[in-house]
Amino acid sequence: MPEIHDAVTVIATKRDGHALTDGQIDWVIDAFTHGSVHAEQMSALAMAILLRGMNRREIARWTAAMMNSGERMDFTHLRRDGKKLKTVDKHSTGGVGDKITLPLAPLVASFGVAVPQLSGRGLGHTGGTLDKLEAIAGWRADLTNDEIVAQLESVGAVICAAGATLAPADKKLYALRDVTGTVESIPLIASSIMSKKIAEGTGALVLDVKVGSGAFMKSEADARELAEIMVELGNQAGVHTSALLTSMSEPLGLTAGNALEVAESVDVLAGGGPPDVVELTVALAAAMLDAAGITGVDPADNLSNGKAMDVWDAMIRAQGGDPRAPLPVAAESEVIRAQTAGVVETIDAMAVGVAAWRLGAGRERQGEAVQAEAGVKLHVSAGDRVAVGDPLFTMYTGTPQRFAAGSAALAGAAVIGSTAPQARSRVIDRVTVNT
Ligand code: URA
Repeated sequence: MPEIHDAVTVIATKRDGHALTDGQIDWVIDAFTHGSVHAEQMSALAMAILLRGMNRREIARWTAAMMNSGERMDFTHLRRDGKKLKTVDKHSTGGVGDKITLPLAPLVASFGVAVPQLSGRGLGHTGGTLDKLEAIAGWRADLTNDEIVAQLESVGAVICAAGATLAPADKKLYALRDVTGTVESIPLIASSIMSKKIAEGTGALVLDVKVGSGAFMKSEADARELAEIMVELGNQAGVHTSALLTSMSEPLGLTAGNALEVAESVDVLAGGGPPDVVELTVALAAAMLDAAGITGVDPADNLSNGKAMDVWDAMIRAQGGDPRAPLPVAAESEVIRAQTAGVVETIDAMAVGVAAWRLGAGRERQGEAVQAEAGVKLHVSAGDRVAVGDPLFTMYTGTPQRFAAGSAALAGAAVIGSTAPQARSRVIDRVTVNT
């Protein structure tokens, strides 16, 4: 006899603190994807999961059910010069100024590994990789599966939109979570990310799990738990998965905003750029190359010798963009200056992310347009000395009435005191299957 399920019983099971059965999970994801479990019912279930949690069996089943709601891509047949190409991808749980995918994908591909980076758009204070790349004139995010395969075989790196057929249950559920205060649930974040990444068909995956004020996970313990669950889910599904725990208490690099972040990424590809962006790019590249079985190389070499830049140029051109075209520049800018002298002790990542978003770099609702030129440039980093009147931030926007909201977000974002903070690596720890 097939099991009969109904939404209210599934919600009540979780509301009362019980584990969902495999049958309940498969049914509710399928019924939600096809519309017979309604948005208000799924929202209630998401809130029950956020409050009550899920055990590892439930998370694995929920992930598999979301992955099975759409197609699973297969890159095992990729070839270049008659030889099989390995695939490796990176996913970040999201942070402020996190432009790492832009230099990282071409850098890893420059070592002969294929990088299929299926990405999303930004929502709220964290930027989206596709929004950033769309600042480049002519660049196209939407590729067919055949175009993705052809580009991986010829160029090695693809950054493009995840198609509608990839984990559609997650697309619907994420949109609901975003408006119902149910994003910050470890089981829901882990299953959301891993259902897409496993469906994407990569052979190996390195997760960049952010921790700090600008991240979903504010504590190291939560970030570690999220990383461990995702590493387990990936490896159980046959994807060689590891994670780096990295700090997101301060913005990454000196820019937040689409065109500003592209320009900073190009600086990194040219062998320059802010030290923290370079450090994290190289650390993630090393982990990705290791996962693909490439050892004994220093990823930094291909930033300084131009090989990563060559792949970037080819990748942008293959998707219709002109890598040499000037990036959009905001018509209006306003500088925020130090009111006191001293040492910059911290810069609040969340404040900078919210400011960039309010200036027009991000969207409040799905589907809204973003301003390519809007954002925030930081003139200082933690540890720098400032005098009264020194510039701390420059805000950019095409709509000057947004400056008030941007300055309100940045008020107090740079804490100026007398104690220089200790220089710390962005990388806190590495999480692998056996840790
Ligand atoms: N990114 C995702 O793809 N899903 C989440 O739930 C959170 C971050």
